[in-house]
Amino acid sequence: MILANETNLEGKTALVTGASSGIGRAIAKALGNEGVKVALCARRRDRLEEVAEAIRNAGGEAWIEAADFFQVNEIDAAVRGAADHWGGQLDILINAAGIGRQAKLVDGDTQDWREMLDLNVLALAVATREALKFFPESGGDIVNLGSMSGHRVPGRGGFYAATKFAVRAMTEGLRQELRIAGNLTRVSSVSPGFVDTELLDDYFRPGSGGVSKYDAINYPILKPEEIAAIVLRQLTLPRTAEITDVLVRPTAQGV
Ligand SMILES: NC(=O)c1ccc[n+]([C@@H]2O[C@H](COP(=O)([O-])OP(=O)(O)OC[C@H]3O[C@@H](n4cnc5c(N)ncnc54)[C@H](OP(=O)(O)O)[C@@H]3O)[C@@H](O)[C@H]2O)c1
Repeated sequence: MILANETNLEGKTALVTGASSGIGRAIAKALGNEGVKVALCARRRDRLEEVAEAIRNAGGEAWIEAADFFQVNEIDAAVRGAADHWGGQLDILINAAGIGRQAKLVDGDTQDWREMLDLNVLALAVATREALKFFPESGGDIVNLGSMSGHRVPGRGGFYAATKFAVRAMTEGLRQELRIAGNLTRVSSVSPGFVDTELLDDYFRPGSGGVSKYDAINYPILKPEEIAAIVLRQLTLPRTAEITDVLVRPTAQGV
């Protein structure tokens, strides 16, 4: 059903982090199909080129800002570069860059913990703060990739869950800060269960101290394109309506 006053995305500008793979890539392509001018960000330039080419071949516009989000100065430069390229304004920020590792709390590796904290929490906050400088006064849209692990703590994934609880807190906190300031930028998150992406190979990698991917998941899981469809719905609702979070899991996923 199409509502009155749905938001038309045609001609809007976006920055999508984590656009080289999985959920970020699917969202970037979906935005490109809607006529959004999309800046693609991640470390692997060759992968970003492929995504940009797919968007352009489908008639859309895409720009690449390769950056390592472990480096704060690279986040700043990527956001500024994307905004400059699209004429000084960003309407949409999709924070999809993220990593997930089991790295247990009892004996996990400090480097795994540090990288999850740096990318899932710190980089998301920095990218958001920098992007807001280029948002229109009438308000833009920010969508954060949260997780079911930001709503309940899975065994063996306690540290990853801590970073996703932080994403949930930052999503809610930012919305309140913006409203206090009279800013109507919408701030949403999507909180999926298992999605079929490269992240799961890292999460369940041998030696990570937990169960194997095939022991943990023996049922059909979500597709990145299904998450992208949810994000499009969040963005196209009338601007007076804001979906603040969406919990979505594979139907067969119990917890
Ligand atoms: N897959 C799931 O089951 C699932 C479930 C719930 C939530 N999520 C969340 O969804 C988000 C996207 O994950 P995904 O499943 O799509 O995983 P993915 O396919 O592995 O994609 C992760 C993205 O993050 C980027 N990235 C990683 N390290 C980076 C760095 N240092 N600097 C810049 N970019 C970096 C990767 O690009 P480069 O390697 O090219 O830099 C890639 O584009 C994450 O926040 C994840 O926690 C995933």
